[in-house]
Amino acid sequence: MTRRIVVLLSGRGSNFQSLLNASLTGELSGSIDLVISNRPQAGGLAIANNANIDTALIDHQAYATRDAFDADLAGVIDSVTPDLIVLAGFMRILTQSFVSQFAGRLLNIHPSLLPLYPGLNTHQRALDNGDTHAGATVHYVTGELDGGPSVIQAKVPIESGDTKDRLADRILQVEHQIYPQAVNWHLSGRLALRNGVLYKDSVPLPATGELWRAPQ
Ligand code: GAR
Repeated sequence: MTRRIVVLLSGRGSNFQSLLNASLTGELSGSIDLVISNRPQAGGLAIANNANIDTALIDHQAYATRDAFDADLAGVIDSVTPDLIVLAGFMRILTQSFVSQFAGRLLNIHPSLLPLYPGLNTHQRALDNGDTHAGATVHYVTGELDGGPSVIQAKVPIESGDTKDRLADRILQVEHQIYPQAVNWHLSGRLALRNGVLYKDSVPLPATGELWRAPQ
């Protein structure tokens, strides 16, 4: 049976585009059935419309509380009973009750080497601290902001003279590699979470997830 994916996004949608590309070439172990945005202007909605993928707009500005927004969001997601919900640049903090409802089916990508730099402005913080590397991490979502178990992490060297935009561009390139990978691992049942430890193919992963290596 085809596995169903729902994508949540707030902006440009390049990570969604990379998943869509994988799906169009038959390299994704599931179908993207619905794209939901909390922002009407999100570029990702236009990408979905052009690809004839169902979309939903749930504008957070129309809601008085986070609980009310998350309740409607959960209802729309549930209507397609997805195997996986992919947060692809979804810039909303989710309530504990939402996260609990979809526990183990919620993946996020974050542009830092978690546990370093949860939250915003990750690239600038890595530069300000004089780090030698930055990167991106795909992780399951828990109630802790950017704190859930890591699936895969890609490191990107920081180059002299880097600006946050240059660094973000290079990190984005690896984001587009690792997210489809992590999605496929989840959908093909290769990941399992037991007692807070994430296993891939029954082998415990390091706390930072599998280290991604660029194809030779
Ligand atoms: C990506 O860099 C993603 O890692 C980041 O937003 C960008 C979305 O780009 N996500 C977060 O910061 C989540 N905390 P995209 O819309 O082109 O995929």
